[in-house]
Amino acid sequence: MPMTSSRGKALAGTVTVPGDKSISHRALMFGLLTVGETRITGLLEGEDVINTAKACRALGARIERTGPGAWTVHGVGVGGLVQSAEALDFGNSGTGCRLMMGVVGCHPIRATFDGDASLRKRPMRRALDPLELFGVRVVAQGEGGRLPITIEGPRDAVPVVYESPVASAQVKSAVLLAGLNAPGVTSVIEKEATRDHTERMLSHFGASVTVTPHGAHGRRIDLVGQPELKPAPVVVPADPSSAAFPLVAAAIVPGSDVTITGVMMNTLRTGLITTLIEMGAAIEQLNPRIESGEDIADLRVRGSRLTGVDVPAHRAPSMIDEYPILAVAAAFAHGTTRMRGLHELRVKESDRLAAVADGLAAAGVDYAIDGDDLIVEGTGRAPGGGTVATHMDHRIAMSFLVMGLATDQPMSVDDTGFIVTSFPDFIPLMRRLGADFA
Ligand code: S3P
Repeated sequence: MPMTSSRGKALAGTVTVPGDKSISHRALMFGLLTVGETRITGLLEGEDVINTAKACRALGARIERTGPGAWTVHGVGVGGLVQSAEALDFGNSGTGCRLMMGVVGCHPIRATFDGDASLRKRPMRRALDPLELFGVRVVAQGEGGRLPITIEGPRDAVPVVYESPVASAQVKSAVLLAGLNAPGVTSVIEKEATRDHTERMLSHFGASVTVTPHGAHGRRIDLVGQPELKPAPVVVPADPSSAAFPLVAAAIVPGSDVTITGVMMNTLRTGLITTLIEMGAAIEQLNPRIESGEDIADLRVRGSRLTGVDVPAHRAPSMIDEYPILAVAAAFAHGTTRMRGLHELRVKESDRLAAVADGLAAAGVDYAIDGDDLIVEGTGRAPGGGTVATHMDHRIAMSFLVMGLATDQPMSVDDTGFIVTSFPDFIPLMRRLGADFA
């Protein structure tokens, strides 16, 4: 369904955004890999995560929803997965698909992975390459290593030391999850530290995992394989990648004053907040606390005069999903914002670099792409008036709906249907803050 957003009054109020998507996928998968009952609260009930829950069921878990965001998983344990007669369908989700390839990889079963038209375009060799080193066989794959893909796990997996050529938490996680069912120690070396939810959850469920610094920005992770995971409750904190939308909306709509409660502040996820503060956004972190091993805080943000900044490439992993909404903030800043090293944006739910550029053009904003860098020329205001093609990408839809709250003329997006993959109540939540979406 298309939708139009228009400039109106200042945004105001206190909201809670849904549970973190990365942690929600992992909580279900760890539940599957644990014998006994895993209780999850605050689970994101978006389509991506629901597809992961279905796949966990197909692989042997008993999963029940006991209330809003409250789920229990009775798993089969590391080594205990059953073969699914049906293909595992991950819909729009690269995270669900690639992580589950790791979960399944070192089990001696066959499994077929599939997804929607967007996921069928995305590269999967980045997960398959390391899995083959464990002894996993790729039985069938689409052209260029695309979905649908069938893999078969080895009887006796061998552990792997893998230096990932891409800064990707999904690849790192696929290797670690596969290493769970290999004997000995599996190691991943990453040049740039990426989100560490898998490592944290491995320790939380009782696996032996050590993390050591590697080079200027990297890490080495060593995991002892074939542990018996112990059930542990998971409390999912609010997703900083979803908080990003009301956060930027409040920063760009003059006079706004919005508080977003209980947002995860893991420093491998907070690159957007760092950048917005550098741009001059009035963001306060209130009531900082630790819940379930993650730092969280309430974020109060007010309408602010933003200034263009230079965003270093090494910050990209800590805000990889936030560049579309940062580009929107940059359009309303005064001066040039240069976002460096965005090559990974080309392989997200859409080619986000192209989709963002087209959206900025539709809004009449000056920008340039220079290699892997996106340069936005902010003038403090943006004309708007265009329609943005969302290309099955939830974050493109939400970013440009937010943009229309501050452009001179309304902005439209062609399709809001994919917002349910990550933030099902985005539209009512934004309306509660005063957003004019029609
Ligand atoms: C995720 C990792 C990132 C991110 C995605 C979630 C994860 O992908 O874009 O939304 O949960 O591990 P990459 O690992 O491909 O960068």
